[in-house]
Amino acid sequence: MRDAVKKLWPELDWIADVDLREKTLATWVRAFELSPLTPEDLETIPFTLLVPNCPVTFMQHKRAVVHIARRSAEAMREHMGDALPIDMDVLIAGAILIDVGKLLEYEKVGGKARQSARGKALRHPFTGVAVAMECGVPDAVCHLIAAHSEEGNLVKRTTEAIIVHHADFMSYLPFKALAG
Ligand SMILES: [Fe+2]
Repeated sequence: MRDAVKKLWPELDWIADVDLREKTLATWVRAFELSPLTPEDLETIPFTLLVPNCPVTFMQHKRAVVHIARRSAEAMREHMGDALPIDMDVLIAGAILIDVGKLLEYEKVGGKARQSARGKALRHPFTGVAVAMECGVPDAVCHLIAAHSEEGNLVKRTTEAIIVHHADFMSYLPFKALAG
């Protein structure tokens, strides 16, 4: 499973800290152990159940978010320098992990993913934090998982969490708008 996760997420190599990279990988491996979904499923299921006939897969969307977040942070650094400190490792690990809890939110019925009873009780920000903490992911990164979605609007987000939240929503809201 480690190799399958590495194949899904070449962006893991962007995490400079070896320990954090390992814990980020371990969280995905652990989530697959707890999930009815396989790595192959993530290349085919839609990234959201909230947009009917969503044309973008889970992995296409998740990787787009990581790339957008990283490039945004690079642009902010380039233009604003030390005025706004950004921890790139926290940002990248967090961006890779924000939706790991969806592996526990979904179930597969008739070949299609849908929200499970567990998913209704505990949406993926909550289960994602649980699995990440089990795997030793530091609190600063778990914060990004906890605060990335609308639940996090009541949280005082860190700089890294603000960037990842916007990267996630700017690549989600247009599809919602197009769907009417
Ligand atoms: Fe999410």
